[in-house]
Amino acid sequence: MNNFEFVNPTKIIYGEHQVAKLDENIPESAKVLLLYGGGSIKHTGTLDEVKKALGDRTVIEFGGIQANPEYEVLMQAVELIKKEKIDFLLAVGGGSVIDGTKFIAAAVYQDDPWDMLLQSGATIEKAMPIGSVLTISATGSEMNCIGVITRHEKNAKLGFSSPHVFPKFSVLDPSKLLTLPEKQTANGVVDAFVHVLEQYLTYPVNAKIQDRFSEGLLLTLKEEGLKVKSNDKDVAIRGNLMLASTFALNGILGMGVPQDWSTHDIGHQLTALYDIDHAQTLSIVLPGLWKVLKEQKSEKLLQYGERVWDITSGSIEERVDKAVEVTEKFFQEMGLKTKLKDYSLNDESIEEVVGLLEKYDLLPLGEKKNINADTVRKILKTQLE
Ligand code: NZQ
Ligand code: ZN
Repeated sequence: MNNFEFVNPTKIIYGEHQVAKLDENIPESAKVLLLYGGGSIKHTGTLDEVKKALGDRTVIEFGGIQANPEYEVLMQAVELIKKEKIDFLLAVGGGSVIDGTKFIAAAVYQDDPWDMLLQSGATIEKAMPIGSVLTISATGSEMNCIGVITRHEKNAKLGFSSPHVFPKFSVLDPSKLLTLPEKQTANGVVDAFVHVLEQYLTYPVNAKIQDRFSEGLLLTLKEEGLKVKSNDKDVAIRGNLMLASTFALNGILGMGVPQDWSTHDIGHQLTALYDIDHAQTLSIVLPGLWKVLKEQKSEKLLQYGERVWDITSGSIEERVDKAVEVTEKFFQEMGLKTKLKDYSLNDESIEEVVGLLEKYDLLPLGEKKNINADTVRKILKTQLE
């Protein structure tokens, strides 16, 4: 295990009816910009609940931050903040709204916010304070310092991170998840599952705490993920999924261990090019990645197979193959597709993905930095049909 420092300053406020606690967590004198997405919070009643909790504070609303938050839209919020002298940002929504809010919080202080994305957040020296009310569990954005922003004009979907953009607090009310469409619930389970795997499924470094935390989260996501399909009004199941997603990407699992974010990096290009939902890109790429890199990852695939899926018999090769197979099947059981053909994509699409990875200088990928353009081609070809 490598040396590490672990800091996570985000306060988690968990439970039903906890939106009321916004009042004690936002300064009374704050002028608040309330940011949200396409409008689900209006139909679900969350917007009214949030406004009630904010009491007499001055609140200005900024809606329309759609899934895969768009640079040009976010820049409109930056202008509004300057004009209205806003001093607190409250994101009400999922990963897209929270990521967008993190970007805005930092972009207010940047000469050219595009640079901030090209340099993965390295130019960020300060950001406005952010709070969040989470309405979909998936990304972990509510307790991390990462954002992923799309800029259609440049065919770009780029991530950034900076300790300055950790939310001060996030309200996690599991009953908010009850209104999610089935597809979004399934996306959330698979996204969180893959977040754990990107930090776990590399090679062993005898990091037992991180490994066992990871396996606990994987088991929970698998069990509760399959249950939620037939028990979609059960708040306790939602709570387990919500906490699992938050802890899957709040920094704990990745402490001092090798990581492999190539499924995400390849998947982001599929979203940038073809607008496929984030999690649905991961369910295509991850099985392909493992099929191509199974020797390099065999020790961890064996451990994962045994501890998460009870795969204990057969030769090493058979057990490794089985671990890959059951994972792809799990994604399918959750309702996600795993082949490029399911989206009418072909060899040309693969070249477009490789082209973008090269354009934004994202290669080589993987825990051993050995995934180059040709490996990406192989990975995606494996999942053609
Ligand atoms: O926009 P509205 O109308 O609110 O509808 C949303 C949206 O259409 C809907 N929704 C959210 N809560 C709801 C609800 N519908 C009914 N009831 C509710 N309670 O769900 C849809 C998806 O929302 P979105 O925020 O896009 O989902 P998610 O949380 O999966 O976020 C995805 C974004 O996060 C990025 C992804 O790339 C993508 O852009 N990621 C962020 C990460 C991070 N910050 O650490 C890491 C991830 O790997 C990921 O890349
Ligand atoms: Zn993700």
